[in-house]
Amino acid sequence: MIRINFSNIMKDSIGKEGLLKGDFKKVNIKGINEIIASKKYPELDFLNLPYEDTSAVKEMGRYARGFDYFLLLGIGGSALGPRSILESMSPFHNLRSKSGVFIYDNVDPATLKNILNLIDLKKTSINVITKSGSTAETIASFMIIYQKLKDENLKPEDHLIVTTDPERGNLRKIVNDYGLKSLPIASGVVGRYSVLSPVGLLLAEVIGVNSDDVLKGAKDIHERCMNPKLWENPAYLFSSGLYLLKKLKKRNVTVMVPYADRLKSFSEWFCQLWAESLCKDGKGLTPYPSIGTTDQHSQLQAWMEGPKDKVVVFLSIEDYGADIEMPDVFSKMEGLGYLSGHTLAELIKIEQEATELALTKNGRPNITIKVPVIDAYHLGQLFHFFEIATAVTGFLYGINPFNQPGVEEGKNLTYGMMGKKGYEAKKEEFERYRKGKKLEL
Ligand code: PA5
Repeated sequence: MIRINFSNIMKDSIGKEGLLKGDFKKVNIKGINEIIASKKYPELDFLNLPYEDTSAVKEMGRYARGFDYFLLLGIGGSALGPRSILESMSPFHNLRSKSGVFIYDNVDPATLKNILNLIDLKKTSINVITKSGSTAETIASFMIIYQKLKDENLKPEDHLIVTTDPERGNLRKIVNDYGLKSLPIASGVVGRYSVLSPVGLLLAEVIGVNSDDVLKGAKDIHERCMNPKLWENPAYLFSSGLYLLKKLKKRNVTVMVPYADRLKSFSEWFCQLWAESLCKDGKGLTPYPSIGTTDQHSQLQAWMEGPKDKVVVFLSIEDYGADIEMPDVFSKMEGLGYLSGHTLAELIKIEQEATELALTKNGRPNITIKVPVIDAYHLGQLFHFFEIATAVTGFLYGINPFNQPGVEEGKNLTYGMMGKKGYEAKKEEFERYRKGKKLEL
């Protein structure tokens, strides 16, 4: 079970920049319990995902494993969760395995060209993921791949697996009209809370990870995070701590630092969840992705001595599942020999804790999440823990953690310029803007 140590956000540890137990009385936990119990938000359906049956996803996984390549088309919550499963569960996958897995989550033409040069469509299953069924980036790549399948005289229905809303959206209509294979994303569940649905679980199965293990981890942390008592609920304490550190100490940046390369994409997954859910109406907390120890030589200076606006969240790994000892070379050289006989796991763990202590001594708030080992079970716990903590933090701010109104205007302007019906005024506005950009050297 993951464990969360909150000591270093408290006054006892970090002095005047920390919180007192009494400060937590300002948090309206009763209100949070009421929101969760009332099911006011249908999007809270993500709480049911750990209990879903996985037989359909497993069957589809078996089907997709019959191909040499797996290409995922999706963006945002429809790509970041799958990518963090791929990179944490099967690092260097394409070099180590005979199957190749590619995630195309952009509309960069050079990337798609490269992918198409590396794969053979005849031997590829393609998972198109979009909850809404209308995201321009995903639909654009889907259209291209669909036509390429046709050009190669392949049957799209043999290669495509569509993951989308069970009833609504253009893609569901295409599934029905063209007889494509599909998996549902429960209608209440929105993109960034969907990793424990077929969105993430199909890829897990494709790379040989048992999706039941991921869900078991999520289930095991679920009850703890539903406990109505603040001091017994790690998600409530995490949310309340960060909420109070902003309110009382102006700490508005959340730095996510896993001490494991395999969790780099997890850090990006977290940042999307945190940013789209919480940064609204000028409120909320800004996420900042990082990685230890690498960023000790890049960002640590900012956390230690920069503006006092950050809370650092460490993911500390107890067992790396591998270790390497530093050999007895250069041991006579003063200043280097001390490393011989120690191991890399020892070094990375000590560096994490040393950074934690250094920040603490400097009055910089930090939280450490201890992860026993990076496996499917604990990854499921991390996903579910952070999803609950994010929703709860949103409720504390009185904002809806499930929408993302801030991304709409850019989309509408793009629709205008790309000629979508109904967006003609946006096109005009865009063109006026272009003409007005005079200051260019
Ligand atoms: O969290 C969200 O809802 C968004 O980030 C979506 O995941 C993203 O916009 C992609 O949406 P869709 O899955 O509908 O294509």
